[in-house]
Amino acid sequence: MSARPCRICQHPTQGVNDFGRMPLGNGFLPPDAMQGEYFYHMQTAFCPSCHMFQLVDQPAAEAMFNEHYHFFSGTSRVMAEHFRQFAELVKSRYLSEQPMVMEIGSNDGIMLQHFAQAGIAHLGIEPSSNVADAARARGMNVISAFFDDALAAELVQQYGQVDAFLGANVMCHIPDLDQVAAGVKRLLKPRGVLMFEDPYLGDVIEKTSYDQIYDEHVYLFAVGSLTTLFARHQLEIIDVMPQTTHGGSMRYVVAHQGAYTVSEAVHHQREKEAALGLHLPETYDRFRQQVMQSRDDLVALLKRLKAEGKRVVGYGATSKSTTILNYCGIGPDLIEFISDTTPIKQGKLTPGMHIPVRPYEAFSERWPDYAVLFAWNHAAEIMAKEQAFVQAGGRFIRFVPRVEIL
Ligand code: SAM
Ligand code: TMP
Repeated sequence: MSARPCRICQHPTQGVNDFGRMPLGNGFLPPDAMQGEYFYHMQTAFCPSCHMFQLVDQPAAEAMFNEHYHFFSGTSRVMAEHFRQFAELVKSRYLSEQPMVMEIGSNDGIMLQHFAQAGIAHLGIEPSSNVADAARARGMNVISAFFDDALAAELVQQYGQVDAFLGANVMCHIPDLDQVAAGVKRLLKPRGVLMFEDPYLGDVIEKTSYDQIYDEHVYLFAVGSLTTLFARHQLEIIDVMPQTTHGGSMRYVVAHQGAYTVSEAVHHQREKEAALGLHLPETYDRFRQQVMQSRDDLVALLKRLKAEGKRVVGYGATSKSTTILNYCGIGPDLIEFISDTTPIKQGKLTPGMHIPVRPYEAFSERWPDYAVLFAWNHAAEIMAKEQAFVQAGGRFIRFVPRVEIL
């Protein structure tokens, strides 16, 4: 399918999924702005040489990350606690006596705030100015820019080198990772670390969570595929820590080659990846089949419920749901609306399929028969607070790891 060279090593890639015409994952739009909506062709590919799983085409960064960015990190209490713990780990393990911390994709300051509050010198690098403003308003030091090697050179001049360079759910957004790795190499103190986490390819393959594939996620990483990239810049992965967030993520700790002993966890994870077959083309053939099956099962279920006259809504207008809705062809005929607590999304339509996004109250004031859990990665938090809906006979539908009524 795809003859495009690998974005990391330039080897010819093997096409995996063809999701067809796709809008921006976070491209929620006002009802009067449907004309001229942006679409691209969303396809994925696997590199048989360095094993990176990647998007064939990705929209321009400025089209996705700008002053209208729709994702505010602070909407989940569980994620707020997760990032508090992440910051604690950095503080307890990796800071010197004169600490300096930088974070890319710092968004509304969900993690950076813990360094700012502790009086630690810090800098957020966040190109989406609306979310960056939210952090600045709370006293954090943030610049609005896309991180690359040229910016890193300026930052070293202005701030010196860093103890910790952090990123959560942002590295997998950046197509030119050589720029990032070169910049990080320049910025790290001799014992400095890059710590970042992103949705993990192993979980996506195991759970058929194909909604992790959307415009922003130009890569889905694994330890194996990242190793090639970092080695080119004399950097190495010294530790890995699996995370339950976003349906299964991996945190990577990277340092100058030889600066630290590589932990047993890294070797262990490599073995797990080999057992899962993340390096084998046939794994991705199977994944393609499973994605198509998942789509067919979800569409069949929603059509059956509609035929039975049930009210079905969505819970959480996620960027992930853009992939599900457009790939499966699910519109307002099958899902009445999607409720979401993010004010900037409310009153808008979902990208491409134009399902109305309503405030949480639209869900809670008149319970539907079924709610499709688009924010399935926050299932524990949502289930805990929606007991009354379930006790009243309401049912959640999920599609990861398989389509089922809970
Ligand atoms: N770190 C937060 C979290 O995990 O909740 C926000 C993640 S959000 C999905 C990705 C963020 O990365 C966005 O706020 C976006 O503007 C930012 N971003 C995208 N490309 C970037 C780049 N090249 N440099 C720095 N930040 C970037
Ligand atoms: P995410 O899966 O990319 O983190 O996005 C989650 C979306 O779901 C975000 O728009 C906020 C919304 N949401 C709710 O509406 N209610 C909730 O209880 C939670 C946790 C998230």
